[in-house]
Amino acid sequence: MTASPTERETLALHGGTSVRDKLLPYGRQSLDDGDIQAVVDVLESDWLTTGPKVDEFEERFAAWIGVPHAVSFSSGTAALHGAAFAAELGPGDQAITTPMTFCATANCILYQGATPIFADVSPDTLNLDPGEVSRKLYECTSSGVAPRVKAIIAVDYAGHPAALQELGELANAHGALLIEDASHSLGAEYQKKRVGNIADMTIFSFHPVKHLTTGEGGMVTTNNACLAETLRRFRNHGISSDARQRQESGQWLYEMVLLGFNYRLTDIACALGLSQLEKLNANLARRREIAAQYATAFRDWPAVMIPVVRAGVNPAWHLYPIRLQLEKLTAGRGEIFRALRAENIGVNVHYIPVHRHPYYRERIQTSESYPVAEDAYERLLSLPMFHSMTAEDVGDVIDALRKVLLHYEITKDAKGEPSHQLETRQTKQFHV
Ligand SMILES: Cc1ncc(COP(=O)(O)O)c(C=O)c1O
Repeated sequence: MTASPTERETLALHGGTSVRDKLLPYGRQSLDDGDIQAVVDVLESDWLTTGPKVDEFEERFAAWIGVPHAVSFSSGTAALHGAAFAAELGPGDQAITTPMTFCATANCILYQGATPIFADVSPDTLNLDPGEVSRKLYECTSSGVAPRVKAIIAVDYAGHPAALQELGELANAHGALLIEDASHSLGAEYQKKRVGNIADMTIFSFHPVKHLTTGEGGMVTTNNACLAETLRRFRNHGISSDARQRQESGQWLYEMVLLGFNYRLTDIACALGLSQLEKLNANLARRREIAAQYATAFRDWPAVMIPVVRAGVNPAWHLYPIRLQLEKLTAGRGEIFRALRAENIGVNVHYIPVHRHPYYRERIQTSESYPVAEDAYERLLSLPMFHSMTAEDVGDVIDALRKVLLHYEITKDAKGEPSHQLETRQTKQFHV
């Protein structure tokens, strides 16, 4: 990106005209008339919850993934809790996970009274680094006594599958389960397989900014019938049958066999999910198109590192997180974030590493640092990414980022020396 200072436009942050009149959010749902009608039909039917739409959604979702079992939950968070329960995590146990995620991924370990062990991420994908996991497994097992790692919980950050083969092998070798938090990666492919059919259990979220929405909602997929049965009971108070099964079989008897929760997804939500599922392929294709346009536009911009895609992977692009090359800029991420927001581009930051949240800082004693996650956090900016973005929206994001980065780019004087001062960036903390 080259331009002389005279070509720079005044930023909206400094009183100039913004690139857009209205804020473009970083993510949003899209619902059509078919979605609305599907919900209305259920509202007029006999079943509002745990009726035929639940079974149908689970079956169709499982078929789309290519996996035998799909168990729906009231949210991705509830699905994670179910998976932590089915992995038999409990007090005295440990689970290894990534700091570069939404806190729900690690919280499910705490819900079960077990201890999260964070391992740093790989510098290219920001996914759990198998080398770091291996180091943590060694530390945990060589500490000599009781605590046991029962699960590795990986996240497919931004929609790029984690190193599932390596992590699966590590989990296997240690008698642990691999749980994949695929909240970002519905439809992503890893070694030619869709995620959801690779780890012992895979979790999906149907929050409105995801590829498919049910309002709130989640799913666990698995190849393992026993795990699926436990998950079904766990989401229904630990009861061995549901109300519809009892009505259909003319039975009143039910037994509570484990301590579960009410984490059921409603028929209303599942009807929406079924309707949304029909559009999933098109939604994924559009997200991939947008990612390709961003990648082409930013390819030669020195101040931007675009997301890396590893060989054998086809990401689902829930997010499009760029990393700012702060060494080439006169401002930190905080100021660039504010400048883009002033241009009405709804950038966001994913994520504050989980161990930095006060709850974790106060309770999970760790002297460890996670340098890759920490460094990435200072640089990350998620650009708008959702399937209903128009060509104009994508163009606005590119124009606004160009405008803002040109303003803050370090320029060279006649002697080839940087002509901006770096002190501000180096001495400030850049939290947004
Ligand atoms: C990585 C990750 N895991 C879990 C969740 C929780 O999902 P939900 O909002 O459906 O509970 C989210 C939510 O965005 C997420 O991004």
